[in-house]
Amino acid sequence: MSHTNQTLGEFIIENQSEFKYSSGELSRLINSIRLAAKVVNHEVNKAGLVDILGAAGDINAQGEDQQKLDVYANQKFIQTLTKRNIVCGIASEEEDDFISINSQDEQNQNKYVVLIDPLDGSSNIDVNVSVGTIFSIYRRVTPVGTPVVLEDFLQKGNKQVAAGYIVYGTSTMIVYTTGHGVNGFTLNPAIGTFYLSHPNMRFPETGQIYSVNEGNYVHFPQGVKNYIKYCQEEEDDRPYTSRYIGSLVSDFHRNMIKGGIYLYPQSSKYPDGKLRLLYECNPMAFLAEQAHGLASDGYGRIMEIEPTALHQRVPLFCGSRKMVQMLEKFMATEV
Ligand code: AHG
Ligand code: MN
Ligand code: MN
Repeated sequence: MSHTNQTLGEFIIENQSEFKYSSGELSRLINSIRLAAKVVNHEVNKAGLVDILGAAGDINAQGEDQQKLDVYANQKFIQTLTKRNIVCGIASEEEDDFISINSQDEQNQNKYVVLIDPLDGSSNIDVNVSVGTIFSIYRRVTPVGTPVVLEDFLQKGNKQVAAGYIVYGTSTMIVYTTGHGVNGFTLNPAIGTFYLSHPNMRFPETGQIYSVNEGNYVHFPQGVKNYIKYCQEEEDDRPYTSRYIGSLVSDFHRNMIKGGIYLYPQSSKYPDGKLRLLYECNPMAFLAEQAHGLASDGYGRIMEIEPTALHQRVPLFCGSRKMVQMLEKFMATEV
């Protein structure tokens, strides 16, 4: 089948056999994410109308309080995955604790847990700039039919079965991996169908974009400061250009297509960085590596970090292979 008209639904079915012991469970899970993505997309697109349709804090027609979009996205993803009885547990950036889904029920033989950042880049909602959703999927480590426990969620990134993001941009896209490369699907809003538009996505070996919140420069470690100065030097293919949207999903997406590096370092403000290992860094690291890029905490692979807490933060440097390697070199010389 030609790539140009293959739908995400068809792609999921065709590639199901790639999974060892496939029972269709992972396919159903990705299908559910696809469904929730369409619902959230519809809501994100209306965000600019919020003052007309009723501002946050107002009471809507059902007598419910109007919600912020990140709360709404959180509920939609959780509801879709819970009601369809697809997973045994969910952890969300928006929830203090993980959610167990009938996992003590012998009928629930689901073996996957999902970790999610339902709305990434939330500071961009009010200003009509791209936001996203990030998801990460693991096989539970405890036996099916028993309640899920923290250990099922605190797994290293290299144990991920699948990961991906949805970017609600000028077009809405789902980009995901199941460990066999990265593929991107664009929503045709007229008919509500995602089509395979970006097969086998790859970071260029190197690039000319660096993405960092430079307002925090004075708080960065010396290695990062030196690397930023290197990016700005007039030599070889430099100076690089600076692009920072403030939505990890969108910054990553652009850099994967054009070539670049994304940096969220540790700083005196955020001693462990700001981004969450389980909801943001691991899924993006899996995607980066599957797209021939790299993801590092400055010293080693993100996906080898042993998680110790659900909402743990780590520094993140990810993108084109050669750029991340150069950053690591700068970090190493400053220790
Ligand atoms: P979230 O909206 O889920 O809290 O994530 C925001 C993250 C990330 O998407 C973005 O790149 C980064 O925070 C921006 O942080 P700064 O505003 O500190 O640059
Ligand atoms: Mn986020
Ligand atoms: Mn978020």
